[in-house]
Amino acid sequence: MKPTILLYDSGMGGLTVYDEVRKALPNAHYLYCFDNACFPYSEKSESVLNHRALSIVQKIAEKYPLDLVVVACNTASTVVLPALRQAFSFPIVGTVPAIKPAAEISETKTIGLLATKGTIVRQYVLDLIDKYAKNCVVEKIGTTDLVEIVEEKQQTGIVDLARLKAVVEPWIDNKDLDTVILGCTHFPLVKTELQELLPQVKFFVDSGCAIAKRVKNLLSEQIICSESDKKPQANLAFCTAKTENFFAREKVMQKWGFISLMELNCK
Ligand code: DGL
Repeated sequence: MKPTILLYDSGMGGLTVYDEVRKALPNAHYLYCFDNACFPYSEKSESVLNHRALSIVQKIAEKYPLDLVVVACNTASTVVLPALRQAFSFPIVGTVPAIKPAAEISETKTIGLLATKGTIVRQYVLDLIDKYAKNCVVEKIGTTDLVEIVEEKQQTGIVDLARLKAVVEPWIDNKDLDTVILGCTHFPLVKTELQELLPQVKFFVDSGCAIAKRVKNLLSEQIICSESDKKPQANLAFCTAKTENFFAREKVMQKWGFISLMELNCK
């Protein structure tokens, strides 16, 4: 059997991680859940994030034989990994801001962490900065607006550039800033717009490739076993609330390679 991989996020951001994992493992069976009932995660409490994580993975694991779960969200990953690892025996891979690679690649040693309001204040992230970026000036922007801007772009194709500019305004005149960490999985989806607003930034780094490598390593045994299995298994998408834009969302998910969108009943 091909390995079945579940990725989940509050919205469409986790698709940037899915994209990298799918490039590394094109034949795996993918399930993607976006927790739109609880979107955005940015300012949600740790107990809400833990509850949603356990509930989503439990519901899907009841129906599908999961081999691995990717928490395709920085905001959730900085909180929920211990609870998920305690509750389930399959590997759980988290997404955390790429602070170490950013500190290494920066020439000016001035880096910016662009993430949600929750992520920038989490102890997990402060410890990473302390461990890997002690020699750098680390500027931080915590934003919920940018998550909403990207979600809207995914659904309508429109980007509110004035709102986006207001988010990164504090960095526009910072000539030393040469590296920005896209510390939310939504943000690679507006990388081009960010590049235009911050032309002094040479490097935008995210965690997608590193996660894909980790997933491939963890599943190497199943991949070898599944090489002869040519049976196609349809990739499926799930949401946690059936809103009026359901069919538009299903179309978006179909473009990303999922055959259908279903509602997952999570309390
Ligand atoms: N995409 C998520 C992250 O990486 C969550 C964004 C949100 O819902 O606030 O942080």
